[in-house]
Amino acid sequence: MSFFEDLTVQIQHYVWQRRVESWEHEASPNLDTVIEAVVGQAAPQTSMVALDLGCGSGQVTLRLAPCVAKITGVDISERMVERLLARAKDEGYRNISGRVSALEHLDVPAGSFDLIVSNYVFHHLNDDGKARVVNLCYGWLKPGGRLVVGDMMFGRGGTAEDRQLIMTKVKLLAAKGVGGYWRIAKNALRYLLRVQEKPIAKERWVELFRGAGFVEVQVQSVVSEAGVVVGIKPAEAGD
Ligand SMILES: C[S@@+](CC[C@H](N)C(=O)[O-])C[C@H]1O[C@@H](n2cnc3c(N)ncnc32)[C@H](O)[C@@H]1O
Repeated sequence: MSFFEDLTVQIQHYVWQRRVESWEHEASPNLDTVIEAVVGQAAPQTSMVALDLGCGSGQVTLRLAPCVAKITGVDISERMVERLLARAKDEGYRNISGRVSALEHLDVPAGSFDLIVSNYVFHHLNDDGKARVVNLCYGWLKPGGRLVVGDMMFGRGGTAEDRQLIMTKVKLLAAKGVGGYWRIAKNALRYLLRVQEKPIAKERWVELFRGAGFVEVQVQSVVSEAGVVVGIKPAEAGD
């Protein structure tokens, strides 16, 4: 891992240790819609062993837990994982486990999952990190296993679709007044410097999945800024 990738990991840990409550209460209003799309595309079955990458405090893990045999939530923030496990206990789920790890460093046995999901996490990884983790997922899945990624999906203004999305976001925030203008300035800086938010376009996601070896790759727009991409590890593939 390069110095900059390692720095990205340290920044994510610092930021998300402090955002457990704010993420639960102030996350994007569209998040529930994206979570439902991820869960729908996951096509969970009660025999499945699943992994949720960047699980936060359980937004997707808790939705999938009643539908699968076992699910492990992984997050870089130990506070997020503690909160996930407390919520799992409160809600009576005994099939949820938690791991504290950066995705880039995650060590799990090859060929051990039927399903891997991730929601609103990959845009925090730099582009090499995204590709590396998609490749790792291919190895962690059993043959026939499924990878489902929900995330912000747009490029840096190179296409008309990107520009329209960015303008829609700006207009929505501007309508909120001074607080909205502050968020426009903050997001624009982060986006231009690619510090905290590093989304990529849907087409690039399809390339990453196909490049890792996934087949039947499909990408779906869910809300203006977000999409879900799905791929299957071929049934005849080795671990
Ligand atoms: C925007 S929240 C999304 C949480 C949850 N998946 C959801 O759908 O609400 C991003 C989560 O990714 C985690 N995260 C960010 N970078 C990570 C990394 N490199 N490795 C593991 N987790 C990471 C953060 O700690 C945080 O919990």
